Amino acid sequence: MLNSVRLLVLSLLLLVIENYVYDDARFFVYGVVDEYGRDDFPDEFVFGSGTSAYQFEGAVLEDGRSFSIWDTFAHSGVPWNNGENADITCDGYHKYKEDIELIADMGLEAYRFSISWSRLIPNGRGSVNIKGLQFYNDFINRLIAHGIQPHVTLNHFDIPQILANEYGGWISRKSVKDFVAYADVCFREFGDRVLHWTTFNEANIFSLGGYDYGFSPPGRCSSPFGFNCSKGNSTSEPYLVAHNLLLSHASAARLYRQKYKASQHGFIGFNLLGFWFEPYTNTTKDVKATQRARDFYLGWFLNPLVNGDYPEIMKKNAGNRIPTFTKFESQRMKGSFDFLGLNHYTTLYVKDNSISLEMDTRDFDADMGVTYTFGTGNEFPAQFPVAPLGLQSLLNYMKEEYGNPPIYIHENGQAQPRNATLMDTPRVEYLHAYIGALLDALRNGSNTRGYFVWSFLDLFEVIGGYASAYGLYYVDMADKELTRYPKLSAHWYANFLKGKNLSATIPNIMNHVRALPSVASSTRLPLCRMTPSTRPASPFKTCKWSYFMKSDPK
Ligand SMILES: *[C@@H]1O[C@H](CO)[C@@H](O)[C@H](O)[C@H]1NC(C)=O
Ligand SMILES: *[C@@H]1O[C@H](CO)[C@@H](O)[C@H](O)[C@H]1NC(C)=O
Ligand SMILES: *[C@@H]1O[C@H](CO)[C@@H](O)[C@H](O)[C@H]1NC(C)=O
Ligand SMILES: *[C@@H]1O[C@H](CO)[C@@H](O)[C@H](O)[C@H]1NC(C)=O
Ligand SMILES: *[C@@H]1O[C@H](CO)[C@@H](O)[C@H](O)[C@H]1NC(C)=O
Ligand SMILES: *[C@@H]1O[C@H](CO)[C@@H](O)[C@H](O)[C@H]1NC(C)=O
Repeated sequence: MLNSVRLLVLSLLLLVIENYVYDDARFFVYGVVDEYGRDDFPDEFVFGSGTSAYQFEGAVLEDGRSFSIWDTFAHSGVPWNNGENADITCDGYHKYKEDIELIADMGLEAYRFSISWSRLIPNGRGSVNIKGLQFYNDFINRLIAHGIQPHVTLNHFDIPQILANEYGGWISRKSVKDFVAYADVCFREFGDRVLHWTTFNEANIFSLGGYDYGFSPPGRCSSPFGFNCSKGNSTSEPYLVAHNLLLSHASAARLYRQKYKASQHGFIGFNLLGFWFEPYTNTTKDVKATQRARDFYLGWFLNPLVNGDYPEIMKKNAGNRIPTFTKFESQRMKGSFDFLGLNHYTTLYVKDNSISLEMDTRDFDADMGVTYTFGTGNEFPAQFPVAPLGLQSLLNYMKEEYGNPPIYIHENGQAQPRNATLMDTPRVEYLHAYIGALLDALRNGSNTRGYFVWSFLDLFEVIGGYASAYGLYYVDMADKELTRYPKLSAHWYANFLKGKNLSATIPNIMNHVRALPSVASSTRLPLCRMTPSTRPASPFKTCKWSYFMKSDPK
């Protein structure tokens, strides 16, 4: 009953919006962009959007592709994905030609996607799958034919299942050699056209979600931590996996620099989820706890990549559970990246919880000794609070603590219930605020080189499966054709990129957007600053990731 009502509402909405969008030629004629525009950013700065292989492609057993750990994990019936998987998802494997037309029409300057190792080298190592090679070659060629830069991620939360069966996947150091061989194939086959390579997506969240909490592939954890996993070790595996990802990255970067850089002239990057952390109160305890959170979440990878070793506080608190780098490895690690990719969504408030260090059995969170909360409360928000100052602070921190490396904001975007509406005003507001904040950060000396909206289409999401979505385009899962419909945000972003004035054309919606605080940098900052009044009023509760399972939108 509920579903049929939803369907009805949705079809009515689609109808209304279709008429509205397509019959109103003015929509495309005027442009926005109140108070800043594409022209305010440097010409060489790139704006894009993206997807990842598993979340987008579908066709999981077609043309020789094998299962990856993400297929296996999704097929285990994950409750917070509502038991769904990405066997079909957007069917990008078959529909990518049309999608690239949409990408081009929107005016995207760059597109970020990942290669499925299981599609390219189904046995994990050894022979290359010609069909996989053709698919990615054609994908890249089509982007380039439209003047769109391909930005490629080699690993987005996966590894072929066959390697996980053989030696445990990323928990084994054997993964390093296989990853480098896979990277070699990618550089060799695609590197004549791809200049921007990222080895790992959200290495910090992959290590934690997959091996401490168990909410993402491969879903490993151990009691009392995480979500009732059947296998794993939350106390040691996250550190081991992170170490192997770092070693894999450094070896792949070295290979690229030695073998390909001189002829291909490309760049190698590494990607992290970049939450920003603010102290919950002014107390010394919370301020120190906030620094620990930054060291654990960001320094875990950035200190090795920039300085050659883990932060002192991590070595101290995790003891012999965190692996050590040999002198040789440390040298190789240092400076092994040309750019840093950051996925930024929101800001967390941090409160001291150093009492957790007294526990005998500790995972990453217990070693970190903090608890945190979202601006909206303890639950993983169904929609992120708009706190653009967090992005500015994050970029400023990268400038001051890590020598201002070249940065790409690889993901930024707003979550909404998937079936909500094509009039995604909250997403427009969010993008509007964050792109403005990015401009402020650039003007304040940040070395950011590009920005990608997550995501181009509604995908199979890590948290929420098909219930939650970030897309600029809605994908109608009830329709066999999986038809794509542009949301308001797609028009907004396209018009921004084309330097048009959108506010003249959709008064009702843009009234809302224009009601946002002025984006002049002098006024934006204080309005977005986290004042006590925006903090949760109720007594602070411990926030572990478990909160978002319990409250997951159905
Ligand atoms: C934990 O997992 C076991 C076996 O996989 C299952 O029988 C049990 O019901 C689960 N417990 C909870 C609380 O989910
Ligand atoms: C996890 O690994 C640590 C360190 O190797 C070990 O001491 C501990 O017994 C393991 N715990 C489990 C649950 O296997
Ligand atoms: C934090 O500390 C500063 C300086 O000590 C003080 O001015 C400010 O009011 C404090 N803020 C809060 C929220 O306690
Ligand atoms: C601008 O950069 C300076 C120097 O790094 C820093 O102190 C200041 O807080 C930054 N301002 C903003 C708004 O980020
Ligand atoms: C969204 O709507 C479609 C069409 O009614 C339906 O098939 C699908 O199950 C809905 N998805 C969710 C997550 O509610
Ligand atoms: C955009 O349109 C609005 C509403 O018509 C108008 O007030 C504003 O001046 C326009 N901005 C530019 C830059 O043309």
